[in-house]
This record gives sequence, structure tokens and C-alpha cells, in this order.
Amino acid sequence: MSAFRFGIAGPGAIAHRFALGLAELPEVTLGAVASNSKERADAFISDHISLFPDAVPYGSYAQLATDPDIDAVYISNLNTQHAETAEFFLSHGKPVLCEKPFALNATQAERMIQCARNHDVFLMEAMWTRFLPVTRKALEWIREGRIGSPVRAYSDFGMTLMTEENRRTVALEKGGGALLDLGVYPISFFSMLFGSEPQEILTTVTRAVTGVDASFEIIFRYEEQDRPFGKDVKTACASVSIDNAFSNSMRIAGTKGYIEIKDFWMGRSAMFFEKDPDGFFRSRPTEVFEPEYHSTGYQYEAAEVAECVRAGKKESPVMPLSETHAIMALMDRLRSSWGIVFPQELLV
Ligand SMILES: NC(=O)c1ccc[n+]([C@@H]2O[C@H](COP(=O)([O-])OP(=O)(O)OC[C@H]3O[C@@H](n4cnc5c(N)ncnc54)[C@H](OP(=O)(O)O)[C@@H]3O)[C@@H](O)[C@H]2O)c1
Repeated sequence: MSAFRFGIAGPGAIAHRFALGLAELPEVTLGAVASNSKERADAFISDHISLFPDAVPYGSYAQLATDPDIDAVYISNLNTQHAETAEFFLSHGKPVLCEKPFALNATQAERMIQCARNHDVFLMEAMWTRFLPVTRKALEWIREGRIGSPVRAYSDFGMTLMTEENRRTVALEKGGGALLDLGVYPISFFSMLFGSEPQEILTTVTRAVTGVDASFEIIFRYEEQDRPFGKDVKTACASVSIDNAFSNSMRIAGTKGYIEIKDFWMGRSAMFFEKDPDGFFRSRPTEVFEPEYHSTGYQYEAAEVAECVRAGKKESPVMPLSETHAIMALMDRLRSSWGIVFPQELLV
């Protein structure tokens, strides 16, 4: 079987890391790179020439869309460009892996999903965290009942991104802010655990001078079930910031034990703690999963796309489109409660 060939649209910072990840996969390769600037495409190709000697640089997305040798397109341009770019490639029949945040809002996401369905083409949000071995291991522990029923999740996720080099993350007109840049990670993780429609939301936000959300806190409370003497309560909370570095962990507490994931968005390691016979949590983990970190970690989502497309699937069961849409709608609810509107939304 010939290699599955990815094309990249938007060869910027993250696309470099995605390309390095592709090099880990024996049956997947980089076939072409397209940019609105031919110089950018050329520079990207020359950076990776030793890994992908046959990859072609294009100075327009149209050339990539009509290249018959490209099996799927990875979209890694700005948040504000995702919807239009995805629809462009989908309408040319190209399967699409679209960087997070999938879109600016749920309306755009819905249009993209409809476009994929109209053209009967594969589409997936590039929520790479879901495909990492450490995430998969944590979910396996939960499925096996190791922590009992998961009832709480806590995450602190922060990086100092309000800097000159990261101007797009503080620019409202580029779809910046803590929510779309970082918040989508814990929110997507909570969605895997408890679903994407909390019954109650508590939140607080701090805005940057540019108008974007520099940091925020959320508490999600999910549907409750009665049990003797009370309710079965499930909640998730996160503190997210682009102006401070945090520990970037995810902790999932269950009725019998808990799991702690270090650097959860990139899946460094996971630890499972259980209770001792006296009912106290042991200070040492019962099990630690810390696999050797291969390359950049972006290879796992790429492998999922190749596998799904080759099997004729139109979406991934691990990151379904209905869930992507529901997460975008949840983020819309948060932004609406903070009064944050992107200029592009005013034009609609
Ligand atoms: N999965 C992750 O871990 C991760 C990490 C970081 C970022 N991301 C996401 O990846 C996407 C790209 O982020 P990045 O940091 O790689 O972006 P970037 O390097 O700043 O730019 C990527 C591409 O966006 C287009 N672009 C950038 N600035 C532009 C401008 N001023 N006007 C018009 N087009 C412009 C260009 O596309 P062309 O060259 O095609 O014109 C550029 O190559 C974002 O959606 C971000 O949220 C994901």
C-alpha cells in the first residue's frame, strides 16, 4: 500500500511540529505544503526536506486542493481562517483535519460539518490530546472501574502567551484569548468524562486590554441522579490563563480512587492512586504510566485520520463532529456570559 499523503495549509509554528510527528509514522507522509505566500511554503519544505524529500510547495490553497495525490489536508492557519479554509478543501473533496479551536463559534462549526456531510468527506477537529497514549491509558483505567465512578475533574492550565512573539493569542480580531487557545483542552477533556452539556455553569473572567479573555475560571455542574441520602453530583472545574504559567495538570476523582495527569494536554504521564483499607488515599501511586515521549505527539491524531479515511469513515469515533459542535456551543455560552464578541461575528 502506498503511503497516506497529508497536505498542510497554513505552514506556521504548529505545522512544523505536526510535520515532525508525521515523520514517526511509517505509512503516512507529507505530500505538499500550501501557503498564501510561496516563500513561506518553500521555506517550510526546505526545513523538512531531509524527512520528506518528495513534498511539494504551493503558493496557493487552490493548488493543494486540486492535487490528486493528497489524501487529507491539515489546516493550521489562524482561528479566524479555519471555517472558510475547511469548507474550501471539503468542497474539493479533500478530507480535513482542522486545528483547534475548530472554528470561532458554533455557527461556523455547524456550517463546516454540514459542508463535510454535503460532500460526503471526512472532517475532524485536531484535538490531539484525545489520541495520546497517556489519555488513552487514563480512560482505560476509568473504563476498568479502577477509580470507581468519576465524580470530579480539576484542571489548571496556563502559559505565558501574552508576549510579542504570541501576538495572535491576544488579538481579538484573530480569534485570540485563553478560551479558544487553551480553554478548549480542559473543556474537551471534561466532555469526554461527563458530556458536553453541563446543567449549571459558574464562571469568572479577567480581560486583557485588547479585549480578549486573559484568564478565566469555570465550574461545570452536570445532571444529577438521586441516591440514598442525597444526590450523585458530578462537577468539573478549570482555571485557565494565557498570562501565567500553571501546573497544567488534570485530576479526575472517582468514588474509589483518582488519576492525575501531568501536562495533560500533551500527555506526559498519568498516575493512578487508590484508597488504603482505612479509606485514605495512598501518598504513592498504585500505578504510573509514563511512556517514552515519541517526537511531538501530533502523530497520533494523524494516524487516526489516515485510518478513518482509509476505512471510508466520514468522522472519527474518538472525536465525533457532534461533540466538537457541542463544545463550540459551550464555549459560545461562556463568551456570551463574559460579553466577548469577535469582530467577525458582528458582520454576520
Ligand atoms: N494543537 C496544538 O497544540 C496547537 C498549538 C499551537 C497552535 N495551535 C493552533 O494552530 C493554529 C495556527 O497557530 P500557529 O501558532 O501555528 O500560527 P502562525 O504560525 O502564527 O500562523 C500559521 C499560518 O496562519 C496564517 N497567518 C498567520 N498570520 C497571518 C496574518 N497576519 N494574516 C493572514 N494569515 C496569517 C499563515 O497561513 P499561510 O501561510 O497559509 O498564509 C500562517 O502560515 C491556530 O489555530 C492555533 O490555535 C494548535
